[in-house]
Amino acid sequence: MQSNLHKKIHAALIMDGNGRWATWQGLPRSEGHEAGVRAIRPVVEAAADRGIGTLTLYAFSSDNWRRPQAEIDVLMGLLRTYLDAETKSFVETGVRLGVIGRRDRLPDGLAEQIAEAERMTAAGERIHLRIAFDYSARDRILAAARQTWPHTPRDEFGRMITGDGAADVDLLIRTGGERRLSDFLLFESAYAELVFIDRMWPDFRPDHLDEALAEFARRQRRFGGLTDADGAAKVA
Ligand code: FPP
Repeated sequence: MQSNLHKKIHAALIMDGNGRWATWQGLPRSEGHEAGVRAIRPVVEAAADRGIGTLTLYAFSSDNWRRPQAEIDVLMGLLRTYLDAETKSFVETGVRLGVIGRRDRLPDGLAEQIAEAERMTAAGERIHLRIAFDYSARDRILAAARQTWPHTPRDEFGRMITGDGAADVDLLIRTGGERRLSDFLLFESAYAELVFIDRMWPDFRPDHLDEALAEFARRQRRFGGLTDADGAAKVA
């Protein structure tokens, strides 16, 4: 069987479980989110080293606006400090940063800060790191549909949804024990391999990424077709 790791892949991560991680230790949820941010850097580094070409992280869904204002403020503040702390090292290590999602509802100055980080890292070629923030896959699909015409080819429609030309998701990892997509990359994940790592996100380490990649390498991807092992050559 051919390995699934022979080409650069697009991996996506639903980083779930920050709140429970904190609550179980008697800490405020905000500390779970802070620990969640700390877990990101080694995973991005490991992803780049393992040949992941695009990594999309789900940091704030459009439905997260339903959370208490204090928690929303923490998450907004964390994106600010994350960009402040990481942009320079992204430039040095070849990370191209992109933020997907709406920008018109973010607190003052954040959209400009994102645009500046994207501009500064635009030449990065080692890995394309995409942060999904105020992101809803259904809203993206709807927005693309509103701009389209009846005969728009599927690939072009797909590009309107992704916005930045990112490839389809190959591997989608979710931590935290739930088994759902939560309105994340619905169009792009049509043939994604789903891997669930039963740890809370702040406890996720590069070893767990390796575990997910090993599972991915064992999966046989058929994209609706057949392989020789299925007897593809012997239909009649
Ligand atoms: C889920 O935990 C996590 C999120 C709401 C998004 C992930 C956010 C981070 C890792 C921090 C922000 C990242 C950046 C880059 C600014 P949860 O609160 O749903 O956990 P629970 O299910 O245990 O309550």
